[in-house]
Amino acid sequence: MDKNSNWPQWPIWREEANDLIHEVSTSGRWTIRGKSTGKRTMESKFCEEFSEYIDVNYSLMTTSGSKALELSLESMGVQPGDEVIVPAMTWIAPVTSVLNVGAIPILVDVDVDSCISKREIAKSITEKTKAVIAVHLHCNVANMDEITRICNQHGLKLLEDCSQAHGALWKGKQVGTFGDVSVFSLNQEKTLTCGEGGIIATNSKVIYENAIRIRNGGAEEIRNAKIGEYEMKYEGQSMCSNEAVSEFQAAVALSQLPYLENLNRKRRMSALYLNNKLLEVNGVKPFICEKEHVVQSYYEYGFLLDEDLLAISNVNEISEILSNQLGFDLHPTDSPVYRNEMFAPESRSRYAHYTSSEAFIEQKTKFYPVCEYLHERLIVFHHSILLSDQNKLDKIISCIKHNIESMRRTI
Ligand SMILES: Cc1ncc(COP(=O)(O)O)c(C=O)c1O
Repeated sequence: MDKNSNWPQWPIWREEANDLIHEVSTSGRWTIRGKSTGKRTMESKFCEEFSEYIDVNYSLMTTSGSKALELSLESMGVQPGDEVIVPAMTWIAPVTSVLNVGAIPILVDVDVDSCISKREIAKSITEKTKAVIAVHLHCNVANMDEITRICNQHGLKLLEDCSQAHGALWKGKQVGTFGDVSVFSLNQEKTLTCGEGGIIATNSKVIYENAIRIRNGGAEEIRNAKIGEYEMKYEGQSMCSNEAVSEFQAAVALSQLPYLENLNRKRRMSALYLNNKLLEVNGVKPFICEKEHVVQSYYEYGFLLDEDLLAISNVNEISEILSNQLGFDLHPTDSPVYRNEMFAPESRSRYAHYTSSEAFIEQKTKFYPVCEYLHERLIVFHHSILLSDQNKLDKIISCIKHNIESMRRTI
């Protein structure tokens, strides 16, 4: 196998960013906290374009997707002691954000598409439940019809975590527009990136204004500030820290956004191609994300190992063999939260409200069959590989085929 294939690099720098960055550097305003120059900030331009793209009324940028989650929870009124239902299979941030606002994460199992299960949400609602976080994971979109229905029925707030789903559609509508509020990560691995950063998107003026205030030292925005005047007024209405991004980051995000749709399309076409080819390989099957009513945005491409293969090998071993031979990283999906090494609430005294709660004790003895099923079988790799040409995609297939079929001959 050709270990030295030049796999597509990520992230991709765009020439337009050079001009935008230069504009910021000479403007005298490197942050929204600086004085007005009479021109619109990069952040406000990006937010306007992003809001238009997904079709919401308001967006704002934050230092990270993790902070966007935390600020969103607070902005929609989650209070210390409230319960928030989160999927047990996710990157750790949705769970940490709940802990950081003093609330209790209630972990629930996922469906086989790896997104939070509507049945499990329904079973976990108590009088303390305040909100649900739906994470669109890997390349899938959570069932927004069912989840919005349950939330409406029980008066729960809905937060969509779209950090792995920029530009995905559910029944023709962008993800991030179904919940009360949604968040997107802009970290370097994501399909839309400025290195580090996050977005909060909402149609609610109240949530938007709360988020603006607690993102940045409790400041109110001053509209129509004169040149040389600050556009933020600090009146101490809410005590908080600073989670604003710099204008340089906003400029990079602005340069990246116009490319998202085409890249998403290319990744989808590659995924379809791999899916069809993988159907011909005995021992594995594509982790199918195609559904009639969903347009995917691939953050990761995945495939599942068949049962008989698990008798002689496992996801770690097979990922390692394939990674070594192909020269890029394939790995099992993240461990379910409850046994992810990053999930260590005992390590911080600030999480005592959780470690002393019944929910924490109960969760330790719970079994999450679908999380376990996926973690045992699902191997994923980064979306940048889907930007390869067909020749390279064929190499991936033949490497998987060669290794899996020779393993199966020993069964
Ligand atoms: C589903 C999900 N939520 C939240 C985050 C957190 O984003 P950030 O790394 O920007 O804090 C990530 C990042 O990997 C993610 O995948």
